[in-house]
Amino acid sequence: MKQLGIIGGTGMDQLEGLEIVAEHAPETPYGEISRPIQEGRLNGTRVYFLHRHGSPQAIAPHRVNYRANVWAMQSLQVDEIVAINAVGGIGAAMHPGALVIPDQIIDYTWGRQHTVDEGGSALMHIDFTEPYDGSLRLALIEAAVGQGIVHQPSAVHGVTQGPRLETAAEVQRMARDGCDVVGMTGMPEAAIARELGLAYASVCMVVNAAAGLGDVPLSLAMMHEILQREAAVVGDLLQELVRSRYRA
Ligand code: HPA
Repeated sequence: MKQLGIIGGTGMDQLEGLEIVAEHAPETPYGEISRPIQEGRLNGTRVYFLHRHGSPQAIAPHRVNYRANVWAMQSLQVDEIVAINAVGGIGAAMHPGALVIPDQIIDYTWGRQHTVDEGGSALMHIDFTEPYDGSLRLALIEAAVGQGIVHQPSAVHGVTQGPRLETAAEVQRMARDGCDVVGMTGMPEAAIARELGLAYASVCMVVNAAAGLGDVPLSLAMMHEILQREAAVVGDLLQELVRSRYRA
């Protein structure tokens, strides 16, 4: 039976319904993880949960130790990771409140520790044509359909450096590039998971119209209100995913 790990983002510092049985803070070759990983039971099945931003302190997207986090998950025998990302909406269907299961990535980040390849016998030219695991994506989509959860089953996830939000012109350029949503934490997490041989997929919660596209000024308060609502829906989605894919 495969083992699931969940990496929560902004607005998901706890996983609703998780009965925590242990916490793990493995030492990694890359330094400290964001917060001890919670081992628990979700819907009766073991899952591991890590909050990427490491509450109660808030680690900014460009300072998250993505390598350590993913390596630590693997060291706990996790085979598959579902990542939760808060994003801004660019495409017409990506309105605040939408739930999105992206199928592509454009990486605009820079200067992050983006690989576990530090030289050695074999170069890690991983195939990243399809950055998300097809089978895990499909399972998420089926779980959403099964629960009647409205979602967008494909999207291009543009990942910016942050922590500032984008300019209107940057968002226009991303739209021309083909991005449907914009977030700050999707990379290098996805690529490191691939390097380490873990299946990885993302669920994006659209919490605002991206810069220049909405009719209200961007504020954290507004994003948090939508996040709270969406996090509850994502919780339902994950419970169904666990029931259908990981139940022993
Ligand atoms: N841009 C980048 N990251 C984000 C946004 C956004 O508009 N909203 C939530 N995370």
